[in-house]
Amino acid sequence: MPYPICANAMPFDVRSIAASRSLRRLAWFLLCASPLLPAQVHGTPPSAAHLTVDPADIVTPVSPTLYGMMTEEINHSYDGGLYAELIQNRAFRTSWVGVEHWDLVRCGDAAASMDVDRSAGPSSALPQSLRLTVHEASPGNEAGIGNSGYWGIGLRPHTTYKGSFYAKVDDPAIGPVTASLISDTTGAVLAKARIALIPGPWSRYQYTLTTAAIAPSSANHLQLTVAHPGSLWLQLVSLMPPTFHDRPNGNRSDLMERMAGLHPKFLRLPGGNYLEGDTLLDWYNWKTTIGPLVDRPGHQAPWTYYSSDGLGLLEFLEWCEDLKVEPVLAVYAGYALRGQHIAPGKDLEPFVQSALDEVEYVTGDTSTKWGAERAKDGHPVPFPLHYIEIGNEDWFDKSGSYDARFAQFAKALRKRFPQFKLIATAPVKESSAEEQPDVLDDHYYKPPAEMMDFVHHYDNAPRTGPKIFVGEWASMSGTPTPNFASALGDAAWMTSLERNSDLIVMAAYAPLLVNVCPGALQWTPDLIGFDAMRTYASPSYYAQSLFAEHLGYGTPRSSLAGTGDRFFYSATVGSHDHVLHLKLVNASNSDQALSIELHGVSAVHTATVISLHGASYAATNSMQDPNLIVPKTTTAHVPAGGWQHTVPALTIQVIDIPIS
Ligand code: AHR
Repeated sequence: MPYPICANAMPFDVRSIAASRSLRRLAWFLLCASPLLPAQVHGTPPSAAHLTVDPADIVTPVSPTLYGMMTEEINHSYDGGLYAELIQNRAFRTSWVGVEHWDLVRCGDAAASMDVDRSAGPSSALPQSLRLTVHEASPGNEAGIGNSGYWGIGLRPHTTYKGSFYAKVDDPAIGPVTASLISDTTGAVLAKARIALIPGPWSRYQYTLTTAAIAPSSANHLQLTVAHPGSLWLQLVSLMPPTFHDRPNGNRSDLMERMAGLHPKFLRLPGGNYLEGDTLLDWYNWKTTIGPLVDRPGHQAPWTYYSSDGLGLLEFLEWCEDLKVEPVLAVYAGYALRGQHIAPGKDLEPFVQSALDEVEYVTGDTSTKWGAERAKDGHPVPFPLHYIEIGNEDWFDKSGSYDARFAQFAKALRKRFPQFKLIATAPVKESSAEEQPDVLDDHYYKPPAEMMDFVHHYDNAPRTGPKIFVGEWASMSGTPTPNFASALGDAAWMTSLERNSDLIVMAAYAPLLVNVCPGALQWTPDLIGFDAMRTYASPSYYAQSLFAEHLGYGTPRSSLAGTGDRFFYSATVGSHDHVLHLKLVNASNSDQALSIELHGVSAVHTATVISLHGASYAATNSMQDPNLIVPKTTTAHVPAGGWQHTVPALTIQVIDIPIS
């Protein structure tokens, strides 16, 4: 049976946009997918310039938590992405086309049919199942079902895959079930297991499939077949590859490693629009995302597809633990993307209670109700937490209800958990101190040129109000991942984040992940691209990784004169390593000569110079050409007191200079 890769993919079309996103996002998509105008590439050649830095004179602190991550269930980031599950639609949900991603298998003269039995399921969360009715089958003439995975099933040599399913049979003589991994291109069986069935109600079956010396490929599918007539009901058909840190129900190792390479300090979870849902019914009800998978119904997510919630709240937290980052926990605050809200007061109370319970699940010890629940789910140790965010992008709520909604959440959270800082997603009206946010979450998505023009936004912002969390930002050029124009816009923006990091406590690019198979994407650009087997990093990824890895604790006094308006810089100093981290961003198409004067640096030093260069704004990395733009490291001698240095056109440099 042919299983073309991406066979079930729906092209990116108006249906998927109009289903739930605004015209604003369509405009962004078109903007990002459009070729750049030549006018954006050419600028007036900048003149010779002078950069002065006094590394001993620290004028503002840099937030130790400045760089982090923001992601959500979008672009198949989790299902078909980070969450390692290989089977798409494992719970047999139906759409107008039927049971998507599943096909009937009939070998030889086998006769069989499949349908969804809505009256039989292993749990109240999964009350339905797939019924396979086999009229005729025999060894060599098997019947069953097949799944093509998430645009293929990635298989590697000498690897063990853990399979499982729930099944119910009237008569086990229909079995055993044969689970086979089959190559789409050759039809060869790459691994096989036999699972004997037991009579009676629902049971969970587990098995393993181990590949031999195969070539790595994602052109594979899974088949579950039987060789005798009868009826078999199936639910929650799962196949897991080895996961990061061998977590059961865990994450893809390659994507976890990519994220670790960003040197993040936090993860904002569970997301932005994903927290809210399109309607009031679709909110992120975390309580239905924990516990055994068979008790998780999943939910309709806002980015056009259904979330399995296999990656639920506990898995989010374990992901943080595995990457040694802290969660920034966003709690649902009663606003839905289509504009409805829950009235503050009595109607909102259950949601406030849900938020209190959620914080207890994350941080409570095992003597608390929800801390004990977390222990039951396998994690007795509480997770660290400092920030709780109330809602997402509530500036979209034109009813003005956010002031009162925020106040109701803030009062309850501060009373119960006074130790945590509260983040508001829109400015709230002055009332009592406890109803004021500690931090405001600002979001910016802009074309690279606008991002570059925006870099002074926070320079003169008041330092007396709430701190700032730039919870989502991105330069928007390139698809599906950012091109070099975006990397330059992003790097320019990051110089401003660092310069203003006394005010900006955290910042996160968004969105982080995109499955690049046709039909998987809803938003572009995204930082890291992947398919069923491979990942690649965009130029923006490398820019962010370099900025985060080379970040000091304070910003020294510095000044720059004589550059064009597409040259940007940041200087921070490390407290432990006594290194000056200079970031120089030349977004113009002319080299920039710089005379760098380092006050108080008397000895000659060897600096490490890491450069990221693109041949044009449109240059980019892709699955086909993943290493076109990657950081290159050289060294340079920095004479005492001053240094003549040239930053090539279209180049981002991160320079480490030892200062003692
Ligand atoms: O990052 C993609 C989306 O952009 C987020 O879900 C939302 O918060 C913002 O509008």
